[in-house]
Amino acid sequence: MNIAGKKILIAVTGGIAAYKIHFLIRDFIKKGAEVQVIMTPDSENFVTQLSLSTLSKRPVYSDFYGDNGTWNSHVEWALWADVMIIAPCTANTLAKMVHGICDNLVIATYMSAKCPVFIAPAMDLDMYQHPSTKQNLELAEDFGHIIIPAENGELASGLVGQGRMAEPETISEAIESFFTPNTGSLEGKTVLITAGPTYEAIDPVRFIGNHSSGKMGFSLAEEAAKRGAKVILVSGPSSQKPVHKNIELYRVVSAKEMLEKVFQFYKNTDMAIASAAVADYAPKEVAKEKIKKNDDSLTIELIKNPDILKTMGEQKTHQFLVGFALETQNEEENAKGKLEKKNLDMIILNSLRDEGAGFRNDTNKIKIFTKTDKKEFDLKSKTEVAKDIFNFIETQYLK
Ligand code: PMT
Repeated sequence: MNIAGKKILIAVTGGIAAYKIHFLIRDFIKKGAEVQVIMTPDSENFVTQLSLSTLSKRPVYSDFYGDNGTWNSHVEWALWADVMIIAPCTANTLAKMVHGICDNLVIATYMSAKCPVFIAPAMDLDMYQHPSTKQNLELAEDFGHIIIPAENGELASGLVGQGRMAEPETISEAIESFFTPNTGSLEGKTVLITAGPTYEAIDPVRFIGNHSSGKMGFSLAEEAAKRGAKVILVSGPSSQKPVHKNIELYRVVSAKEMLEKVFQFYKNTDMAIASAAVADYAPKEVAKEKIKKNDDSLTIELIKNPDILKTMGEQKTHQFLVGFALETQNEEENAKGKLEKKNLDMIILNSLRDEGAGFRNDTNKIKIFTKTDKKEFDLKSKTEVAKDIFNFIETQYLK
């Protein structure tokens, strides 16, 4: 990955996460990029022009007008940049961007930019969840901008949830991978990944689902894309968003929809990794109207869902096939059983008995099994786990 010589335009807006931009600038400068910072007037309540210009080694601007009747040319920076990053991007700036409300230097520069635009939103929990924010993020994506999703954690308000700006390392990685040509170890390969839960409808308002967040599958997709693969990501309902441009995302809801989408691509896939937590059963009938609570008990007849991974195993021609096993007891035995029964080349075991492993967490703890090998890993972030998985796959698949 090399961003040396790249011209990076950073627009800082008024949120507490603005302090993290210092680390991002320092990282870019260390890697040899040129960095120009512009800021909204409000962001000056959080960070100073002095600190940002000291790190970026260039003057920083927040106003259209300079001294002695001069003006600061937003058009010039917009055309200069190889890439523009709005970070942190507040709800206010996001709304102005997608609706063309051009009342400050940042928006005027953004609207003059012809380069790719990255957006790292940062706002409080309910603001991030608000339908207007969601719609504005979708609009920004429709414009072709790349969203680096906010992360989960403690927010400035004390609330806990999604809204924190992505860490500077994550933003930096997204920019580097954008500039990285596809020369990785998986170049020329197509990797199909399933992620997230499936929802099986009971009636128009209820479903059978599970706790999968999609984090493990999306981390695998990012890692495969970074290694040069073309990635087909089929995900059940999840708030995760892909960052890398080589990821084609297909969102589905039920196991049947996931099966259908997977088999649209399976034949021409080199490698498939099933990290989705697919519901094993679905209601036999989906009630047309909301089921009323008239009786003290309710019986819903369930029928078996298709086993997507097993079907992939049965129809395997040349694909390298990887499954997951999520277990609560007899872990190794069950995982090895699935390796055999589903005709897999490799299986990744995660146990809910290990603290920090499995569903929802940002971390996971895995053991990998092939027919002949076994390797155990420590508890790590799902991003690191994805790297371990591909490092291991490469010893098996590319040997
Ligand atoms: O999404 P996160 O919150 O990050 O959580 C990650 C995870 C815990 C969901 C993930 O690491 C994981 O373990 N995924 C597999 C969960 C699961 O359903 O395991 P299983 O042991 O029941 O299924 C075995 C394999 O068969 C899995 O690869 C599964 O994708 C696949 N399967 C299962 C049932 C089915 N009907 N179709 C399938 O393809």
